[in-house]
Amino acid sequence: MSETSPRLRAELEGVPAYKPGRNAESGDGGGPVVYKLSSNENPYPPLPGVMERAVAAAGSFNRYPDYGCDRLLNEIADRFGVPVSHVATGVGSVGLSQQLVMATVTPGDEVLYAWRSFEGYPVVTTVGGGKSVMVPLAPGEVHDLDAMADAITDRTRLIFVCNPNNPTGTVVKKADLVRFLDRVPKDILVVIDEAYVEFVRDPETPNGLELYRDRPNVCVLRTFSKAYGLAGLRVGFAIAHEPVAAALRKTAVPFGVNQLAQDAAVESLRSEDELLGRVGALLGERTRVQDALRGQGWTVPETQANFVWLRLGDRTADFAAACETAGVIVRPYPGEGVRVTIGETEGNDIFLKTAEAFRKEL
Ligand SMILES: Cc1ncc(COP(=O)(O)O)c(C=O)c1O
Repeated sequence: MSETSPRLRAELEGVPAYKPGRNAESGDGGGPVVYKLSSNENPYPPLPGVMERAVAAAGSFNRYPDYGCDRLLNEIADRFGVPVSHVATGVGSVGLSQQLVMATVTPGDEVLYAWRSFEGYPVVTTVGGGKSVMVPLAPGEVHDLDAMADAITDRTRLIFVCNPNNPTGTVVKKADLVRFLDRVPKDILVVIDEAYVEFVRDPETPNGLELYRDRPNVCVLRTFSKAYGLAGLRVGFAIAHEPVAAALRKTAVPFGVNQLAQDAAVESLRSEDELLGRVGALLGERTRVQDALRGQGWTVPETQANFVWLRLGDRTADFAAACETAGVIVRPYPGEGVRVTIGETEGNDIFLKTAEAFRKEL
């Protein structure tokens, strides 16, 4: 037998291997309750109606799902007042990010985004054969849109603007984004990733759906994973003009969005009042957490998402370990800071207590 291994693409060496994080623990096994504040999930369980629809769909999972996601596409188009031909679905919005790279990038083309931002961008760029161009956030942890416009080259094919930005929670303002879009050549696709849009309350923050209408090079990404609470079912959608939406349908994994996800997403859109009422409660907790942290002396960038960002530099790992010992799992970015999801009140309280004690030691 030959010792030679199959030839794999060298770029894959640069893709970080998946490291599983510690899971939440309910306390049922006799151990202490552990709150997971590390993945920006919605802490509420599924709404009963949504759950029933998913359970009903499970009764026929011997069948393939609807290939075209027709009912879901129509429901999204109705809800957001866009033509159905402008909608595409994917296996989460991260799946759509990958489809966007596949639809635009040939080997060596550039994908431009702020950094630090959503960790999926470098992965989908590298896997898709593209080259990442990362533009550092400006002071205040916000996108530096002028520097991003300056970084455009004739190899740029795709730009991600993450608004609100993961992991900092900061937003770009409408006037700044419009000015940026006016500077971007019209043959470069700009993706406004609005995974957390339902948590935005700042009136100066743009709604991507208003910006895409007269801009064929703008694509809006949305997800059912966060405010809608369907993270485990894996479904997201993009809204863009027809050539882009059609390209996203072509690059989708066939049958990728399963029937449970499709049906639960339709039901979620129909239960939106109730679901978004829960978002209101989370926003109350967001204000409480942010104010308490500032009261403790932390610098917390203004967040419009369901998480807060603490820049801790070389104390990041220690802080994350202290949280874990206390019973909350947060998301460390080694050497930079931690992102902490707004979760259940009890989990938020443990986090605040830990942050207060840590602050006193700094
Ligand atoms: C900015 C941003 N975009 C996209 C995603 C992907 O979400 P999903 O694939 O669950 O829709 C995330 C998830 O954390 C995110 O933070």
